[in-house]
Amino acid sequence: MSYQLSKTPLLSEEQIQQRVKEIAVEIVRDMSGDGEGLVVIGLLRGCFMFMADLVREIGKVGGVVDEVDFIVASSYGAGTESSGNVKIERDLRSDIAGRKVLIIDDILDTGNTLTRVSELLKLRSPSVLKTCALLDKPSRREKVIEADFTGFSIKDHFVVGYGLDIDQKYRELSYIGLIEIDNE
Ligand code: IMP
Ligand code: MG
Repeated sequence: MSYQLSKTPLLSEEQIQQRVKEIAVEIVRDMSGDGEGLVVIGLLRGCFMFMADLVREIGKVGGVVDEVDFIVASSYGAGTESSGNVKIERDLRSDIAGRKVLIIDDILDTGNTLTRVSELLKLRSPSVLKTCALLDKPSRREKVIEADFTGFSIKDHFVVGYGLDIDQKYRELSYIGLIEIDNE
């Protein structure tokens, strides 16, 4: 199978940056009422660019982040397809009991990863647990889950850039691009 990056971006840098600002405002409005800071938890590796921008924007609009932490989860299945069998490869270092937690993911696809991670973190009794995904592919869902905050809902395309990869490539793009697959 060979593939290439489509010449036209699906989402431009400007569109992404504008939406990240809006999501930051939504998050601060919904989660900052009691004045307590957030524990922002990223699902590596795809979240890294979105999370860096989002946390900065949260700070700019007056939100407080008490801690950032990361989880590495991987799902094993046939080939590159996700499966319900999600394994935690690296757990949190922070104690989230009684704290306000926001989980950041790059893209909500089958929903298996975010469902598993949310279930795991809920067992640790945070006072609030909310989820945020930059992208959402609702047509591919296998689990009933929606993120509390979503950047863009997209069709069933494979996308790269702004932290997202194919074979670890294209994460450095400042926009989201489409992958075209040649089935020859
Ligand atoms: P799922 O929701 O458990 O299926 O897994 C979501 C994960 O699969 C994301 O965090 C990405 O790492 C990866 N993924 C799903 N769709 C795409 C895509 O279009 N481009 C890049 N990675 C993707
Ligand atoms: Mg990922």
